[in-house]
Amino acid sequence: LAAFLSLAAAVVAVNACVSNDDPFEQWHGPKAGDVRGPCPFLNTFANHGFLPRSGKYITHKDLADGLLNAVNFDANISAFLFDFAVSTNPEPNSTWFSLDHLSRHNVLEHDASLSRVDAFHGHADIFNQEAFDETRSHWGDIVDVQSGVSAIVARMKTCKSTNPQYSISQLGEAFILGETAAFISILGDFQTITVDKRRVEYLFQNERLPTTLGWKRPETQFTTDILIGNLQTVAVEYRKRLNSTVLGKRGEGYAERLMHG
Ligand code: HEM
Ligand code: MG
Repeated sequence: LAAFLSLAAAVVAVNACVSNDDPFEQWHGPKAGDVRGPCPFLNTFANHGFLPRSGKYITHKDLADGLLNAVNFDANISAFLFDFAVSTNPEPNSTWFSLDHLSRHNVLEHDASLSRVDAFHGHADIFNQEAFDETRSHWGDIVDVQSGVSAIVARMKTCKSTNPQYSISQLGEAFILGETAAFISILGDFQTITVDKRRVEYLFQNERLPTTLGWKRPETQFTTDILIGNLQTVAVEYRKRLNSTVLGKRGEGYAERLMHG
């Protein structure tokens, strides 16, 4: 009997370890009828259930709770991003958006994405290995501001030379720089602005948080100030490389003016 009881206890203990409802472990890809979009991170959050798994009808509260629980975003940055997101819902004055709304070309979705083709060439919402291979060929083992910007500039050059309708708006340019600032800061170290390339590849290619590679939800809350500060560091490097018509003329306060109108 003692042997049986200790065996039973062991089985219970193993089960307790294996079956858990930790959302970081609860990953399911989209099922039929679910929608996803051009943002690898929001797709990932939906795959973990931090956002509605359907990808649809995402409210301000859904986004704020999801970004807080998944990656420790404060309420301000979630509100800031939600306003952009609802602007893609074709229904005016809506209070929600769906991930596929984000794909509407030249609202927020822009050319020269790191992991998607331009809308001119096809599906700008779906991960594209060839585009992403070009991007990651510019990253070292560590992605930092320098190699992050190298990849951006390379994708811009390629897309410009292959897409007769290539264009990037001022907002698109700010998003491009912000996206690189954001993925480095969230998956890596927001202070040194560096990240292990493998974590970034893993998230983009699997649309899953890279916990198996040692990533954990950041302990420091992520704020709009951190995002804008790191975006500006990326923008300074970008201006050095590219004869930018937009950020070059507008100077370093561009991101702040974007925010405050
Ligand atoms: C694309 C990061 C949240 C909207 C992207 C891309 C990255 C990124 C790296 C570029 C993908 C590529 O170039 O292939 C993040 C991170 C987030 C986040 C780290 C939070 C942790 C959001 C939110 C919105 C959003 C809240 C809502 C407005 C978009 C859109 C695109 C995009 C519309 C498509 C742009 C394009 O490449 O054409 N995001 N994102 N993202 N993100 Fe997010
Ligand atoms: Mg795009």
